Amino acid sequence: MQVFHSINQMQDWCLEQKYKGKKIGLVPTMGCLHEGHLALVQEACRQCDVVVVSIFVNPIQFGVGEDFDRYPRDLVKDRELLETTTRADLIFAPSIQEMYPPGYQTSVDVTGEITEKLCGASRPGHFRGVSTVVSKLFLICQPDLAFFGQKDAQQVAIIEKMVRDLNFPLQIVRVPIVREVDGLALSSRNIYLDDQQRQEALVLNQALKTAEQAVRDGERDVNVIREILVGVIEKSPQARIDYAEVYRAEDLADLPEIKGRVLMAVAVKFGNTRLIDNRLVEV
Ligand code: PAJ
Repeated sequence: MQVFHSINQMQDWCLEQKYKGKKIGLVPTMGCLHEGHLALVQEACRQCDVVVVSIFVNPIQFGVGEDFDRYPRDLVKDRELLETTTRADLIFAPSIQEMYPPGYQTSVDVTGEITEKLCGASRPGHFRGVSTVVSKLFLICQPDLAFFGQKDAQQVAIIEKMVRDLNFPLQIVRVPIVREVDGLALSSRNIYLDDQQRQEALVLNQALKTAEQAVRDGERDVNVIREILVGVIEKSPQARIDYAEVYRAEDLADLPEIKGRVLMAVAVKFGNTRLIDNRLVEV
């Protein structure tokens, strides 16, 4: 599997594929690949003729004091995993210098409720960094389809909004959350957890499942559902809740009651490690 580090090389390759009439799939990642990422790549391989996996730990989406420096990076291992488990065609792994050369000044910002809530509230500037790098990746790779995980529900909602607002000529495909057998959503950050925290981290999924069951049993009060989420998470001594919220799935608007497609989303810190998870319910 080839690895391109240069934007020009990547753009030329994609243009060539386009001339050949190939449907291009792009899977943007920050590497440290796991089964969650691979599910996106496999879906891309099913739906596209050629598949590019980008691996780039994007500095501008990390805030001060976040884990940019210690974010795990292992291109050799990622490449091996992609080669042995998928038929992806190539990896695009640019350097920071290549993506943001000296004098770089442009950003893409989706504004309003959709970016201000949930992770947007606790990570100011995060989604500007995500929208900017994803725009660059779209323009570099010119995909027909781009694949994002439901694991980052707010991220994919923002990217969909950006694609509509800026008329990017491509389609976003959402891929369901991949979990460990015990229910913990796969994340590159799970490796930061010690044994005790790993065990306690199960409260995220347990809280979401309990809240979903309450909705299925007829609960329609948003505050009650929020309290259920908080109540289950607080059973873990180490958990510090960043948010436990319930919003309309499509645009994260506030809901007077549980109705339609509803996103239940939680973010919880264990020590310095912040985990997120979510569940969609439809009533
Ligand atoms: P990263 O955290 O590496 O995630 C890359 C993609 O994998 C995202 O679309 C994310 O939602 C998806 N993903 C991660 N864990 C998953 C799981 N357990 N199940 C399903 N999908 C999962 O998200 C980013 O990188 C960055 O913000 C990026 C979009 C690459 C921009 O820098």
